[in-house]
Amino acid sequence: MAWLVFVFFSLIPYLSVAEGLGVAKSGCTTKCGDVDVPYPFGIDPGCSLEGFHLNCSRNATNGTYKLFAGNVEVLEILLPTSQARMMNSISWQCYDNTARNITDDIWSLALRSTQYRVSSLHNKFLAIGCDTLAYNIMVDYKNHQYRTGCVSVCYSPESLTNGTCSGIGCCETPIPPGINYYKATFDKNFNSSSVSDFSRCSYAVVMEADNFIFDTSYVTTTNFWYKNNGEVPILVDWSIGNETCEVAQRNTSNYACASPNSICKDLGVGLGYICNCSEGYEGNPYLKDGCQDKDECEDKSTCSGNCVNTPGSFNCTCPQGTHGDPRSAAGCNKIERSSPWVKFVVGISVGLMVVVILSCLVYFVHEKRKIAAIKENYFKQHGGQLLYQEMKSKQGFTFTIFKEEELKEATNNYDAKNILGEGGNGTVYKGTLENNKVVAIKRCKTIDEKQKKEFGKEILILSQINHKHIVRILGCCLEVDIPILVYEFISKGNLFNLIHSCRAPCISLSIRLRIAQEAAEALTYLHSWASPPIVHRDVKSSNILLDENFMAKVSDFGASVLAPVDEDEFITLVQGTRGYLDPEYMQTGLLTVKSDVYSFGVVLLELLTRRKPFYLDKPDDQRSLSSAFLFAMKENKLEEILDDQIMDVESMNLINGVAELARECLNMEGERRPEMREVAEALDRIRKTMKHPWVQDNPVEIDSLLGEPSNYKEVEMTSYHSMEERAMLAMEPGR
Ligand SMILES: *[C@@H]1O[C@H](CO)[C@@H](O)[C@H](O)[C@H]1NC(C)=O
Ligand SMILES: *[C@@H]1O[C@H](CO)[C@@H](O)[C@H](O)[C@H]1NC(C)=O
Ligand SMILES: *[C@@H]1O[C@H](CO)[C@@H](O)[C@H](O)[C@H]1NC(C)=O
Ligand SMILES: *[C@@H]1O[C@H](CO)[C@@H](O)[C@H](O)[C@H]1NC(C)=O
Ligand SMILES: *[C@@H]1O[C@H](CO)[C@@H](O)[C@H](O)[C@H]1NC(C)=O
Ligand SMILES: *[C@@H]1O[C@H](CO)[C@@H](O)[C@H](O)[C@H]1NC(C)=O
Ligand SMILES: *[C@@H]1O[C@H](CO)[C@@H](O)[C@H](O)[C@H]1NC(C)=O
Ligand SMILES: *[C@@H]1O[C@H](CO)[C@@H](O)[C@H](O)[C@H]1NC(C)=O
Ligand SMILES: *[C@@H]1O[C@H](CO)[C@@H](O)[C@H](O)[C@H]1NC(C)=O
Ligand SMILES: *[C@@H]1O[C@H](CO)[C@@H](O)[C@H](O)[C@H]1NC(C)=O
Repeated sequence: MAWLVFVFFSLIPYLSVAEGLGVAKSGCTTKCGDVDVPYPFGIDPGCSLEGFHLNCSRNATNGTYKLFAGNVEVLEILLPTSQARMMNSISWQCYDNTARNITDDIWSLALRSTQYRVSSLHNKFLAIGCDTLAYNIMVDYKNHQYRTGCVSVCYSPESLTNGTCSGIGCCETPIPPGINYYKATFDKNFNSSSVSDFSRCSYAVVMEADNFIFDTSYVTTTNFWYKNNGEVPILVDWSIGNETCEVAQRNTSNYACASPNSICKDLGVGLGYICNCSEGYEGNPYLKDGCQDKDECEDKSTCSGNCVNTPGSFNCTCPQGTHGDPRSAAGCNKIERSSPWVKFVVGISVGLMVVVILSCLVYFVHEKRKIAAIKENYFKQHGGQLLYQEMKSKQGFTFTIFKEEELKEATNNYDAKNILGEGGNGTVYKGTLENNKVVAIKRCKTIDEKQKKEFGKEILILSQINHKHIVRILGCCLEVDIPILVYEFISKGNLFNLIHSCRAPCISLSIRLRIAQEAAEALTYLHSWASPPIVHRDVKSSNILLDENFMAKVSDFGASVLAPVDEDEFITLVQGTRGYLDPEYMQTGLLTVKSDVYSFGVVLLELLTRRKPFYLDKPDDQRSLSSAFLFAMKENKLEEILDDQIMDVESMNLINGVAELARECLNMEGERRPEMREVAEALDRIRKTMKHPWVQDNPVEIDSLLGEPSNYKEVEMTSYHSMEERAMLAMEPGR
């Protein structure tokens, strides 16, 4: 009876037969209510492909029609994407506060043995609630079973956020592909009993992701269910049969892509295939003449020029007198016929630009050449040629001529951080060469004209000096106004710092004498190595460097000149350091090796007294160490001036010997001063008569004696290191 009623109603009003729309088979119903029913779907017998029959049923109460596939309502059929939107019920579970029991309604969507599968891309499994563990039990078209799910927990309504579904009040998981059955259930142990004061119910459903935005009221009320009347849309994919295109095409009477100009698309084994119109055609590929030529020219945005529609394509050209790409947004543009005036202006400006660019280029090339020429000039001036020739002729000659840029790079553009020391005539930088070798780089402030010319020659001589107590000169740079010298780097600073900044107890007498003797030997070597002799000119304790073994290395002889042969020539500018300067040289300007002897005498005094050679802030008669010393010697009050750290009864004889030697060195008349060789020999003798020859000086002792950090970074680092050590020792328990 009910069936009869259904048939009766189903015959009359919804029968709007196909009218040129070409979506349904001719003579078949095209719509059910508002929903289009395109072939291969069909309502009437013989109007659909196998597996695509749908029911259209009328609600007797309000007279509306609904489309059903089995018992699932169909909302929409999407032909070009082979999808359909269906209605799906929401599973729920609620906790009853008064009865203290759980009520629930569990739904499943069964599309097994149909042509439909839940779309994995567009749907997700959603669970809503505050004490919810929802399971999604699924079966795919290969009959494989899956179980996924998610947990949603919250402790107060305040912890919920609109729009975020990430485990607080709402959780979601994706859907694997090929699913045609699912059931959403709940774990009864997550039953909202603990949060029932603000959230009693949990919901779970697979639904179209784009149709869901989490709202906090879904947790605290039953809005989610009531708003949707217990049902939400789900997107399903559909396909034809379960064979591949190739297999299906073998039996043309069964092949679904009936239209010419259609293409078949494989979805995979067991999933069948779908049809689509070829490019340039549109319509229903499942109908005999479904795919019709698409009139691309109708859509003005595809072609802004002259559009001619052709089967499967279109011809788009720019109208005569214009050019461009008619298919792009820019479209066709009129070909401008520019006036002669415009042409003239354009021509002039282009010409001007070319001229400006060319002159810039010429200028830069010229500047570069100029700089190169200046460099070349300096190089020649400083006798670079001579050096080059010498270097070529002598093999194993390790002297390097540096480029200006190399040294700039090595010192980080003469960064103040790299300054090792600053003296009257120049600044010494620590530099790291490209091969990671550390060197000391000396930039002089000025040199006189005569020196400039002789520079190459002098450097050549200096570079050949090879003595273990003389700092080696590694190279120089001649491309600059004032040549730059590169020395080996000596790590432990200078004697001046060692003497004058050490805390008590300071270095022992034996080490002081050893350093003095080594320095004396170095000067002896300088004085006797060449003829005319090389005069150091600036012997002082800060020019006696100490290497890691605290061996003396005399440095800074680069400022020295070869003592001139011809007496007339050698009245040079008086140079030197106050306190060390030979008074005779000061008066006459005559520079001899004996000037070095005088300065060395002052160094001996420094070692004996641990006083600085010159005090600006003392009364005139006590300013100079040498005069204070000579005065003390005359008055027989030597003890008053000596460093009490080295004074003891046993070494008094030795000290007197050194003091006597110093006095000889400090003689006002150069002639009467001893030769440097004699000084070195005397020191050697004194050392040999030391009463305790077994007391060897060792670097460890010296290390511990090193006082305040000097300019040398290594020393600073040692002191940091020991601070750290101290801190660590202080932290040790029991200390
Ligand atoms: C028909 O519509 C009425 C009112 O809208 C509704 O209450 C009823 O459940 C519907 N019946 C069916 C079979 O859908
Ligand atoms: C008829 O009832 C259905 C529910 O069964 C409802 O979705 C639809 O809006 C109602 N139509 C009218 C015109 O009231
Ligand atoms: C259509 O409805 C009839 C009668 O209610 C039912 O027997 C048949 O199975 C339904 N077919 C489909 C495809 O839903
Ligand atoms: C069918 O072709 C149209 C246009 O050529 C395209 O937009 C659509 O995505 C295709 N459908 C499928 C399922 O490939
Ligand atoms: C829960 O308790 C109420 C009232 O006692 C009862 O009516 C209902 O049937 C119970 N439900 C279940 C699922 O036990
Ligand atoms: C979330 O949005 C709803 C309205 O859609 C509003 O009533 C509610 O207060 C909002 N919740 C929060 C936490 O902002
Ligand atoms: C609700 O869950 C709690 C644990 O969270 C459990 O002890 C209780 O038995 C559950 N109630 C029901 C009716 O299953
Ligand atoms: C093609 O399909 C039709 C209908 O299913 C069937 O009757 C026919 O035997 C098939 N032909 C071949 C060659 O398989
Ligand atoms: C295809 O479907 C037919 C029945 O419709 C079935 O007999 C056959 O086993 C299926 N083949 C595959 C590969 O699933
Ligand atoms: C497109 O139009 C141009 C000129 O009208 C013609 O030369 C060309 O052959 C046409 N192309 C096609 C594919 O019709």
